[in-house]
Amino acid sequence: MDRVLSGMRPTGKLHIGHYFGALQNWVSLQDKYECFYFIADWHALTTNYENPEDIVSLRKEMLLDWLSVGIDVNKSTLFVQSKNIYHAELFLLLSMITPVSWLERCPTYKEIRDEVKDKDLSNLGFLSYPVLQTADIIIYNAKYVPVGVDQLPHLEISREIVRRFHFLYKSELFVEPEGLLTKVPKLLGTDGRKMSKSYGNAIMLSEDFKSIEKKIKTMMTDTNRKLRTDPGNPDICPVFDYHKVFSNEEEKSYVTEGCKNAGIGCIDCKKILIKNLLAFLEPIQNKRKEFENIIDDVDDFLSKSQQKANEVAKDTVEKARKILRI
Ligand code: TRP
Ligand code: SF4
Repeated sequence: MDRVLSGMRPTGKLHIGHYFGALQNWVSLQDKYECFYFIADWHALTTNYENPEDIVSLRKEMLLDWLSVGIDVNKSTLFVQSKNIYHAELFLLLSMITPVSWLERCPTYKEIRDEVKDKDLSNLGFLSYPVLQTADIIIYNAKYVPVGVDQLPHLEISREIVRRFHFLYKSELFVEPEGLLTKVPKLLGTDGRKMSKSYGNAIMLSEDFKSIEKKIKTMMTDTNRKLRTDPGNPDICPVFDYHKVFSNEEEKSYVTEGCKNAGIGCIDCKKILIKNLLAFLEPIQNKRKEFENIIDDVDDFLSKSQQKANEVAKDTVEKARKILRI
């Protein structure tokens, strides 16, 4: 069976954008591939090295979010990156053969370094982010890597590093990974900007229902619809994008009609959305509570799965060592 691998940086509670952008896909891949999913805590540290104290609780929060949506430790190999030292060793070996210029011209590197003003990102760890990511992937011979479009430049670097390794050492140790892109529905934040925890405009998977209700009730709508008597246009309304994801056909046509001829108000429209959104989140939050009761220590909970990942990684690194006579 082909292998799939993906990771996420533990930077805070996950929101519905993460679910429809990644996790939903991860869940369904579990039944078709041998999946490895890991908590990329070293990657989180590349930008968050000034606040390492948060990482213990962040790892746990993310694991709980994953499990709550159906990522299953009995189906997939779930593990913590920093508890698998072989990633670091392979990263080191790959760093020998990776030209710095490949990293300097990586678009995500340039963008984040120039955009982020509150942190100093001139550190080596941040520059070498794609090399560590390459080690994460090829250490498992993963063929497919489900990621968002923003990660494609990193994957291209991974493929180049693999080719360079094979060329230099006349070996075919690794698999050239391919990105797996999925259709991602548009879900903006409640203020109409991109959904992001840092903007405070996201609907978190584990968010309190009262708080969600409040956010949706004040959510941005078609701004041309100022009065209840003004007709609106669902095609340009972020609330309607949510209906596309959470509501059934009947509800969607009811809302479309009512919006266009001012038959319903935005509050009526949002009430339907709130009902459906909460119905979607209820089983997720119940499952999360079950796991909150079971899981005390993340490492204990993942120990068998972690061990499996570490063994696979060790095997690859031993082969790489032989090739490099080290
Ligand atoms: N860079 C990825 C992100 O920010 C996280 C990540 C680290 C990753 N290593 C990976 C994703 C390996 C896929 C494969 O989302
Ligand atoms: Fe948007 Fe619904 Fe209001 Fe129409 S009725 S503008 S779709 S919130």
